[in-house]
Amino acid sequence: MRKFFFGGLFLLGLITIFLMWYFQFMNFDLGRFVLWLLLLLFFIGVYDVFQRKHAILRNFPLVGHFRYLLESISPEIQQYFIESNTDGKPFDRNTRALAYRRAKSVNDTHPFGTQRDIGESDYMALRHSIYAVVPKDKDPRVMIGGKDCLQPYSASIYNISAMSFGSLSSRAIMALNKGAAKGNFYHNTGEGGISHYHRNGGDLVWQIGTGYFGCRDEHGNFSPEAFQEKANWPEVKMIEIKLSQGAKPGHGGVLPGVKNTPEIAEIRGVKAGETILSPPAHSAFHNEEGLIDFVSQLRELSGGKPVGFKLCIGRTEEFLSICKAMMKRNSFPDFITIDGAEGGTGAAPLEFSDSVGIPLLPALIFVRSTLEKFGIRDQIKVIAAGKAISAFSIVRNIAIGADICNAARGFMFSLGCIQALRCNSNDCPTGVATQRKSLEKGLVVTDKAERVYNYHKNTVHAVVELLGASGHQHTSELTAADLVRGDEMIALADRYFPDSVITQVDH
Ligand SMILES: Cc1cc2nc3c(=O)[nH]c(=O)nc-3n(C[C@H](O)[C@H](O)[C@H](O)COP(=O)(O)O)c2cc1C
Repeated sequence: MRKFFFGGLFLLGLITIFLMWYFQFMNFDLGRFVLWLLLLLFFIGVYDVFQRKHAILRNFPLVGHFRYLLESISPEIQQYFIESNTDGKPFDRNTRALAYRRAKSVNDTHPFGTQRDIGESDYMALRHSIYAVVPKDKDPRVMIGGKDCLQPYSASIYNISAMSFGSLSSRAIMALNKGAAKGNFYHNTGEGGISHYHRNGGDLVWQIGTGYFGCRDEHGNFSPEAFQEKANWPEVKMIEIKLSQGAKPGHGGVLPGVKNTPEIAEIRGVKAGETILSPPAHSAFHNEEGLIDFVSQLRELSGGKPVGFKLCIGRTEEFLSICKAMMKRNSFPDFITIDGAEGGTGAAPLEFSDSVGIPLLPALIFVRSTLEKFGIRDQIKVIAAGKAISAFSIVRNIAIGADICNAARGFMFSLGCIQALRCNSNDCPTGVATQRKSLEKGLVVTDKAERVYNYHKNTVHAVVELLGASGHQHTSELTAADLVRGDEMIALADRYFPDSVITQVDH
């Protein structure tokens, strides 16, 4: 290959010099240009042969670059030319298009019938009622706050899940917050603390992660004084302690020194330029009783605001221990947020995203039934996060065990995210998940805030329509009995075909 490359370039060079000489009076400039180009290619080829990092380039000088070029645009090629309406990952084209259309408030109907294989065993559907109703409440809300809460919060059934300033751009955070303010739903800050971009009128859930950003002392430990000041800001409506996140449960975070700008450092309460580690576990408590005491401490410091925790279920016995500790202390979180293992992130090791944690639906069933078993389901609100984009996914989560839902990537789509899969590289082409000012400037805050508002409004409207179809007035009336699963239908079909004769004889 190398011989072929250098031989080819040498031959092309000779031909070009001959042509330049032969046609010198006609097109000498073009010939010179080609000669320079060949010279450049020659030097790149020589560099490729002698560099030691890439075997492909050493063995296939120059042409090997095509592999890297094509690889870098493979997500786009996949999305534009290869994927069908129903097979894109993590979200298929139909789902993304639904979010875009609802965000733009344009026709969100679907032509000609379903494109899904509704004969699959994991197909799930709503069992609609013959006696459909038109629900009176167009914006169903849920009150969050248990017996020790002094400032209960009336939450929308659909809200913005945790995403920090840092993983998202300042403009994205502003647009989300303004949209939340207009639509009267909450915006979770993520574990990076409260920036001034979060303070545009929207209700906030302040998330406290293991880095205690915005409420830490100089050693990185929880600082009650720093917490108390911000927790009492009027826009902070609830506090969420992050135990884990579905996309990387049990994994901490790193804020590299180069990304730790003076602005981010000030918001997080750290020194600019230093690499900051978020450890995998909390230092403010070390066991389930410590967690329950920490919940009470934060509630007290915040003047009685609702306090809860977020986790992806892993070891179920640990959740049972937390419930036992609640009973022992007679103290309960106001809410628990369950994040499914299918959840998103700005960046995570592949093994953690693909192979750690329990997916949302079994986790929700487990949490609901455990809380019921302890007789405390009515004391604690359950919030579900994990690919809740269509109205059906919200209805399904609530029917299975949640009270309300959060969405991260759904709201990213409403901001214009095109699922370019570049959140971890600072190259997000839509300016949503980047800190590069040149890319951020494409995101117009006023326009996107309106889309965030529309997306929420139209999605909640679709939920209300589904509720009506199932004969319910409010999401609180939904139960698992409102759902049917494909395997149930297959079992039903198996019962009648091909054994129908036997079945008839038997009964
Ligand atoms: C860009 C990005 C940043 C995130 N940052 C956080 C975070 O700071 N804290 C957290 O608890 N979860 C974080 N998450 C997880 C989401 O809050 C959410 O739980 C998860 O993505 C599931 O929701 P989804 O399927 O609607 O995206 C992040 C997700 C994304 C996509």
